[in-house]
Amino acid sequence: MVGPKRHFLPLLLLSLSILFFFSYYHSSLPHSPPSPNPKFTLLPQNSDSNPNFSFIIKVLTFNRLDSVARCLRSLAAANYLTDEVHLHVYVDHFALGDAPSNIDQKLQESHRILEFVDEFEWKFGSKLVHYRTANVGLQAQWLEAWWPNSDNEFTFVVEDDLEVSPLYYKFLTSLIVNYYYNASNYRPYIYGASLQRPRFVPGKHGNKLQMNDTTRLFLYQLVGTWGQLLFPKPWKEFRVWYDNHKAKGIKPFLDGMVTTGWYKKMGEKIWTPWFIKFIHTRGYFNIYTNFLQERALSVSHRDAGVNYGKTAGPDSHILYESSLDSDFWDMQPLSDLKWYDFCFREIFPDTVVESFDELGSVLNSVQKHDTVIIVSLFGVSELAIRNLFCHFERLNIWHYVLVGPESDFVFDLARRGYPVIGTNQFLKSVGAYKLMSLQDSHAEMIKAYVLRKCLESRYNAWVVDGNILPVSSDLFVESDPSYDFYIGKSSELFFASRSFAQKVDGDDFISKFATMASSLLVKRQSISFGFIMTKLLEQKGVKVKSLNETSFGLKIDYSNVNQSLGDGKQMVFWSSDTASDLVQKRLQELGIWIVNDDLSCKAVVCHQS
Ligand SMILES: *[C@@H]1O[C@H](CO)[C@@H](O)[C@H](O)[C@H]1NC(C)=O
Ligand SMILES: *[C@@H]1O[C@H](CO)[C@@H](O)[C@H](O)[C@H]1NC(C)=O
Ligand SMILES: *[C@@H]1O[C@H](CO)[C@@H](O)[C@H](O)[C@H]1NC(C)=O
Ligand SMILES: *[C@@H]1O[C@H](CO)[C@@H](O)[C@H](O)[C@H]1NC(C)=O
Ligand SMILES: *[C@@H]1O[C@H](CO)[C@@H](O)[C@H](O)[C@H]1NC(C)=O
Repeated sequence: MVGPKRHFLPLLLLSLSILFFFSYYHSSLPHSPPSPNPKFTLLPQNSDSNPNFSFIIKVLTFNRLDSVARCLRSLAAANYLTDEVHLHVYVDHFALGDAPSNIDQKLQESHRILEFVDEFEWKFGSKLVHYRTANVGLQAQWLEAWWPNSDNEFTFVVEDDLEVSPLYYKFLTSLIVNYYYNASNYRPYIYGASLQRPRFVPGKHGNKLQMNDTTRLFLYQLVGTWGQLLFPKPWKEFRVWYDNHKAKGIKPFLDGMVTTGWYKKMGEKIWTPWFIKFIHTRGYFNIYTNFLQERALSVSHRDAGVNYGKTAGPDSHILYESSLDSDFWDMQPLSDLKWYDFCFREIFPDTVVESFDELGSVLNSVQKHDTVIIVSLFGVSELAIRNLFCHFERLNIWHYVLVGPESDFVFDLARRGYPVIGTNQFLKSVGAYKLMSLQDSHAEMIKAYVLRKCLESRYNAWVVDGNILPVSSDLFVESDPSYDFYIGKSSELFFASRSFAQKVDGDDFISKFATMASSLLVKRQSISFGFIMTKLLEQKGVKVKSLNETSFGLKIDYSNVNQSLGDGKQMVFWSSDTASDLVQKRLQELGIWIVNDDLSCKAVVCHQS
């Protein structure tokens, strides 16, 4: 027989282990903050407070002499300490094949720019001028500006209508030292830093961004094109990703984003929709500043050009030494900074719960209306899991925690801000393995612990399997207050009311659950959490209400084709042994497969906050 190894223990041993459990459980609960998966704190090199890196300024210009002159002068007026800093200027060419009438004027314009750049003195390092032979536009100007030479080379990209503060370089190098070269602050999923004032929310029709006064530095997914520092590795990744997609004719569409509208209008003239799509897929972040009073270290004069039909004037006020607040140079630890997605919704990356105490604080932070959904990822395909989260996002459901096997995929979910319980670590930390006679009951045990903590914290709890897809947020609303428990037998949906909390003694509940799980699992290969709970509760004389799932759910299986959701359906579900490609096909037919093959949602859906 092929299958997981099982350990059968005599009942006597089992009850002994329950006794052990009590003494261990009560003595060993050290409090520590949730620890991130070590995989995600890898550093390109050791922590270094005086790292040796190279810094290149990339100026992108076209036909605006006054703009580029103002830009270069501001760059030359900045404080570069004693560092060597290189300047690369990319001069785009005007479009050939235009009516020849004003060719002479255009040639003259170009040559004046070249003359200016040639004569421009740059004393901080080398200067390089790249004059193009044809018009390539902003997309190629950005994308071809850099292929990093090493993991210790940084680029600051500046379009010609920008003006920078004399302090900008000191600030950026400080960011690099503190957030790239300091191991405790480094994250491979931070792709750079924007010096422009944070302005808009792309998932909310480009609405104005409301920033909290108390925040100086924060992380935000959106790229800021008015003064963007790029880190080498993510940029290389992006270039390769772009290649793969562009070559295959895949468009960077991301529904719900204002930038997708720009792309539909401007196409390959701009590059940001590509980068934004990449960032969305990978779940990466950018560092931003918030200096208040519309101040920034880099401002755009928004001169007439590709982005502005006519000149719109400076977007912010430049920060000078004289206007500095006392905490200007403070680089707070990364763990103190807030993270925001494309909806400007705060997210909490790297939440991996590994102990009972941590669990309490995570449940407190995710609960909504005193309810928590415990989502089980055991045995669910990665694409189906991602599709489920796309629906949670669409339905504005965030009050859940995930239990699942500790895989790279699950740690990546945590990294992206989904709260994960690290099953093995957690069970070890609470001493659960002493209690379990069967290794493969861990999937049910972890749910029992989380359920217990929910009830102790006076929260209602839903326990759902990843093989359920909610299509209405009404699914997770208590439907019959006259019962403390409901179960959906074929969907493995289970509900426990917080009003039952007083009647449950935590430790007793866990040990009885373990015994019940073991005795049931000995007889059967797999059983649902709800089934174990029902047996356990029946033993205590508690009634569990059976839900009639066909009245509010649609079951997918091999037999049915061309189903429709119909009115009043709140969920779709399937049994865990249904082939994942069949599930995908059926969900596609129903129009509720909203995930791309690369595991990213097809849309960004923002809600009122
Ligand atoms: C810094 O790196 C550059 C390029 O790799 C090298 O030429 C230079 O000697 C290094 N400087 C120090 C102080 O290590
Ligand atoms: C700023 O954040 C603090 C702490 O998170 C909060 O108490 C305060 O209400 C927020 N202020 C605004 C204007 O959002
Ligand atoms: C690295 O960052 C941490 C947190 O911000 C800080 O406490 C520590 O002093 C920094 N280390 C160095 C070498 O600067
Ligand atoms: C379940 O609900 C369906 C649809 O509402 C109904 O046809 C069926 O009779 C119900 N089954 C039971 C056992 O109540
Ligand atoms: C299902 O729907 C498709 C498209 O509407 C149709 O071509 C097909 O014949 C239908 N299949 C069945 C079994 O009804």
